[in-house]
Amino acid sequence: MKKDLVITIFGSTGDLTARKLLPAIAKLYKNKLIPKNVEVVALGRRDYQTDSYLDAMQNLTTKVLDLETLKSIVTYYKIQITEPNAYEAFSKYIQSISHENTKHIYYLAIGPELLGSVAKNISEAKLIEKNNANQVLVFEKPFGHDLDSAKAVNQMLWQYYDEKQIYRIDHYLGKEMIQNLMTVRFANRIFEDTWDSKSIESVKIFVKEKEGILNRAGYYDTSGALKDMVQSHLLQILCLVAMDPPKEYNSDYIKDEKIKVLRSLSIDESSVLFGQYDGYLEEPNIPSDSKTETFVYFKCYVNTPRFRGVPFEILTGKKLKEKKSYIEITYFPTTEQEKWNLPIERNKLIIKIAPKDGVDLTINSKKPGLKENLEQISLSFKMSESVEGNIPEAYEKLLLDIYQGSKTLFTRWDEIEASWQFIDQIKKCPHNLVSYKTEKDIMKLIK
Ligand SMILES: NC(=O)c1ccc[n+]([C@@H]2O[C@H](COP(=O)([O-])OP(=O)(O)OC[C@H]3O[C@@H](n4cnc5c(N)ncnc54)[C@H](OP(=O)(O)O)[C@@H]3O)[C@@H](O)[C@H]2O)c1
Repeated sequence: MKKDLVITIFGSTGDLTARKLLPAIAKLYKNKLIPKNVEVVALGRRDYQTDSYLDAMQNLTTKVLDLETLKSIVTYYKIQITEPNAYEAFSKYIQSISHENTKHIYYLAIGPELLGSVAKNISEAKLIEKNNANQVLVFEKPFGHDLDSAKAVNQMLWQYYDEKQIYRIDHYLGKEMIQNLMTVRFANRIFEDTWDSKSIESVKIFVKEKEGILNRAGYYDTSGALKDMVQSHLLQILCLVAMDPPKEYNSDYIKDEKIKVLRSLSIDESSVLFGQYDGYLEEPNIPSDSKTETFVYFKCYVNTPRFRGVPFEILTGKKLKEKKSYIEITYFPTTEQEKWNLPIERNKLIIKIAPKDGVDLTINSKKPGLKENLEQISLSFKMSESVEGNIPEAYEKLLLDIYQGSKTLFTRWDEIEASWQFIDQIKKCPHNLVSYKTEKDIMKLIK
């Protein structure tokens, strides 16, 4: 039967497919957000039938997969994806389930070492042809490992595809609270009118993780916290916090504003702190002399008229006290506060990303009673309590946007290059690698 939508997953036997892609596709299908006659073609080199493949995927994840739904839309297809000759038969299969207007999503859930050969094979088999907006390629970070390699990846992809056919996934951008950032900023006069260096004293973007590297040693040791987290997720958040309003709310204008932020960044060299958790060198498959950082902190500045002079503190690390991701905006005290003989407390806007998402705004209030005492109270909004049913997972939103051709939540080539340019600067800053046992150990070294 000819399909309206075909999602082909390369690397379909991996962690990403089991934990994120299959649950998201099943949910979209159940909620009738993608066509009823969709086919998910799961490509792998292992010997499976569709049922045994899906059972194996269920064993890979603690999430309960909706196997009934998945069995009705998934087909496992055995192929060696690095082998050009294997594409002849595969291409015929794809043709047999396609009509003229079938939307094709080719999702590369594979490591960066396979990207070049698979991208070439897909193009040579004419699965994606330039100018055909119905045929798109999706791939995951890492997008290179420095500016030069990121440029090389972009050049390689452009040999085969148009930029508008390429979707680079940064799943943080699919998180509900991150999507909400622009709304909170631009749709609230109390924030939009005070969102600048006259009112804001400092900004923190902190992503703390409790877990270590789990079973990602091979990848993580070649990457580290700066490249794994800051280059993509944290700089993207910084852009959304610091950007000016776009000329119009469409993907390209939003990205144009984000690029201006990335290009205006400067680093406070003396603030750079790299750490490695105690026990990292004993993790399986980590070289005993590894210098890879599992923690990074630095202060930087966004040199735009809006934010010049405001320190942005960026922090991410593993094996910290708890999983906690948030943006903290601290406002200057009012001039009136300084005249009072009371402790000066600042207003803070805290945008919580994980584990729970929501917004807290702390305000100063008189403590009830006969004395002139001040207390801080918090106005809180918890996203998870405000919606009925589950908040969609990031991958549901991202897959739906790919299907609908909306590129706002995907990273454009020049954002990737500009962010690597800044990361390369940070790498060159003089720094030591400090060993830490606890969050307290490393936090007290922050200048
Ligand atoms: N997992 C996540 O949450 C996550 C998050 C963000 C980004 N990513 C990125 O997404 C990509 C996939 O991640 P993952 O965690 O799913 O990786 P993974 O668990 O290691 O899976 C990799 C997949 O690639 C296949 N593969 C590896 N080498 C191959 C080869 N030589 N020939 C053919 N197939 C080969 C594997 O097949 P076999 O099973 O046969 O080995 C498997 O299906 C990576 O680029 C990763 O950085 C992952």
